[in-house]
Amino acid sequence: MPPSTTPHPLRSSNRPGFESGPSAVRLVDLFAGCGGLSLGFAQAAHDAGRRLDVRLAVDFEGLATEVYSANFPGAAAVATQPVEEFFDGPLGSTATLAETRTRTSVGMVDVLVGGPPCQGHSNLNNHTRRIDGKNALYLRMVRATEILKPRLLMIENVPSVVRDRHDGQSVVDRADRHLRSIGYQVAQEVIPLAELGVAQARRRHIMIATASGEPDPRSVIEHATRDAEEHDLEWAIGDLVRTPEGSLLDQRPRPTPVNLARMQYLLDNDLYDLPNEHRPDCHKGDHTYLSMYGRLRWDRPAQTITSGYGSIGQGRYMHPDQPRALTAHEAARIQGFPDYFDFSACPSRSALATMIGNAVPPQLGKAIATAYLALASTMEEPEQSGTAQSA
Ligand SMILES: C[S@@+](CC[C@H](N)C(=O)[O-])C[C@H]1O[C@@H](n2cnc3c(N)ncnc32)[C@H](O)[C@@H]1O
Repeated sequence: MPPSTTPHPLRSSNRPGFESGPSAVRLVDLFAGCGGLSLGFAQAAHDAGRRLDVRLAVDFEGLATEVYSANFPGAAAVATQPVEEFFDGPLGSTATLAETRTRTSVGMVDVLVGGPPCQGHSNLNNHTRRIDGKNALYLRMVRATEILKPRLLMIENVPSVVRDRHDGQSVVDRADRHLRSIGYQVAQEVIPLAELGVAQARRRHIMIATASGEPDPRSVIEHATRDAEEHDLEWAIGDLVRTPEGSLLDQRPRPTPVNLARMQYLLDNDLYDLPNEHRPDCHKGDHTYLSMYGRLRWDRPAQTITSGYGSIGQGRYMHPDQPRALTAHEAARIQGFPDYFDFSACPSRSALATMIGNAVPPQLGKAIATAYLALASTMEEPEQSGTAQSA
């Protein structure tokens, strides 16, 4: 096959002009983190010749909003506050004072996105899952929908969110029912992100809701998940093998002597899984931790990136060719962040690890946004084409 002439989407250091374009996609991002979902919507809007107008992004971590602001300098408001301060009313009630203020300052909204925290019910956390009060935050997305009335809602979470309960009820069922009761069409799906071109075996649950008269959310999901090219680790980070260690982003993790010996053993013996006799005592019997201390393969997607990507004791994070775990730059690429995304507000390797590990791969937002914009534009024609100023 001749080499592809399409520019590599992750290797560019030049940020596209997401703020330019004749008509705006007006977006609110709650639990925004560094802005993975926003970036995906920005990329899709840009490809469709539209500009992204971030009306409001909220996260209560100051470092997250600093990174967000650096990457979305045109955002009308980026707030370092709890989401509950903007949307504090019970589902189904009239707008509170805070909610009325939020609605007035944000104005008309095309898209509401959010990835409420999932530590409470991640499969990676055995202690607090399924009883965590954070599950109620999922329903703040529904309340925000009731107040802002976006055309499209997207809530992202871990697959096991469907088993989470709050006040004795499933949060996802409750969200689904309430959205339908206020006139939205709703669909849910667990999406293997590798099928969207993310070089990673990560699965995510999404709930998509659209206002009446907008594209059917099931079609949006079906459109989003068809025909994407799948990518392996080599595609994502193969060019970074000889990157010098200049910045924090490219600093190589320094392993302990015992982990260095484990990695050298894997390289010397051309192995990818560490035999039990080389593991710590607690892994020596029967265990389900095969990926821990494991080596990544160039020709497959990586395992799910967490904030532990810098240590082989946290998962299969050993570089395929070198006796070290992943750099932040490599982890960001595997998460789907292009080189133009600016993480420089993060002052340390651990801050970078939290920021990158918490992020939603932009390809997820991009696939949903691309599908929605394409379907919405076909619905607008012929009466509204050329007149609509937003989505
Ligand atoms: C899974 S991360 C979100 C990732 C992000 N949506 C993206 O696209 O990259 C969850 C975020 O929610 C924030 N968070 C958790 N509870 C919050 C709250 N009550 N109010 C505002 N932000 C909150 C955390 O600081 C974290 O950045």
